[in-house]
Amino acid sequence: MKILNVVGARPNFVKIAPIVAAMKQSRHLRSWLVHTGQHYDRNMSKLFFDEMGLPRPDVNLEVGSGSHAQQTAAIMARFEPVVERLRPDAVLVVGDVNSTIACALVAVKMGVRVIHVEAGLRSRDRTMPEEINRLLTDQISDLLFVTCKDAIDNLVAEGIDRRKIHFVGNVMIDSLRRFRPLAEKSNVIERFGLARRGYALLTLHRPGNVDRAGDLRHFLGTLREVAARLPVVFPIHPRTRARIEASAALRRAVWHPGILLTEPLGYLDFMKLMMEARLVLTDSGGIQEETTVLRVPCLTLRENTERPITVVEGTSELVGRDRAKILAGVERILAGQWKAGKVPKYWDGRAAERIVRVLENMANSKTAQ
Ligand code: UD1
Repeated sequence: MKILNVVGARPNFVKIAPIVAAMKQSRHLRSWLVHTGQHYDRNMSKLFFDEMGLPRPDVNLEVGSGSHAQQTAAIMARFEPVVERLRPDAVLVVGDVNSTIACALVAVKMGVRVIHVEAGLRSRDRTMPEEINRLLTDQISDLLFVTCKDAIDNLVAEGIDRRKIHFVGNVMIDSLRRFRPLAEKSNVIERFGLARRGYALLTLHRPGNVDRAGDLRHFLGTLREVAARLPVVFPIHPRTRARIEASAALRRAVWHPGILLTEPLGYLDFMKLMMEARLVLTDSGGIQEETTVLRVPCLTLRENTERPITVVEGTSELVGRDRAKILAGVERILAGQWKAGKVPKYWDGRAAERIVRVLENMANSKTAQ
């Protein structure tokens, strides 16, 4: 069975690494790696390939940035001839970024099976571009791998045949477990002059949080109040950086002796910072999951989440941009009054193995036919 694996944006690299490694071990699967080029900065792309030992992509579509329509269309136009040339049996996409829907759509229209890893997550917030990508990708997928039971319910409620759905666990957590020993060795805590459990780690990049200057300024004001309680490390996403650099008021708003601004970090340094943080503030999806497994308190800076399991079972709480909720959450964490959470089922480091087993069974039954 020939499979074309697709990646485009930073979280995709973390998800695909264990899948590529597990496919390499299989005698029944042959795979290629296509990078759409949605993320292209060294710190957002190549560094992840190097640290995770990912093979160089067989094809790089080099689409770069653009509006949603431009980016999605460019990926589709450049991906179609690749599928034409390689003629895979299936295209495997991960997550919910523009590269995910673009390549899935190309494949399904060419009669190539679509495999979606991390299917069925729903925030029920259709103003999020990722929610649209998730809904549409799942509708055109032939095989859907899910990280949790509520994803199965979401898919079945949308009319997807249960037989296409496989509960395998979380590939992002496969990577977390595999690379944790290496991350332990990172000296980022010393480099940044931090104390273990003595700082907060912040990430912020959702359009809903950073695209309106007024909201972002208000938000940064709250973060300065957090920084008055404990140092805040803030690796800044290019989208957020561009917004802040464009405005003198925002540049002032982010300045505080307790806020440590850095470039986006590599996977290992970032994992080490998460592991040792007193608390994490984030609007990222994957970080809600990683902090749950690391048992680090997480204040999720969103009104909703497509990963409710991280709230119900894990260490996350939704606080949105609400100043009172954020500051109260920080105080509760500092007072040691936070839930310990538990690790969700199958977030055990073996999700990619399970995926490969399903694919091998399919390949074998095809050969037997
Ligand atoms: C994308 C995903 C989002 C994911 C995030 C992780 C979509 C719709 N969004 O958001 O779900 O959480 O990746 O990081 O696919 N830029 C650079 N260098 C880069 C990449 C981006 O400077 O390597 C800048 C560009 O100005 C670009 C902006 O960041 O316009 C946004 O990049 P884009 O890929 O459109 O979306 P993200 O916000 O990164």
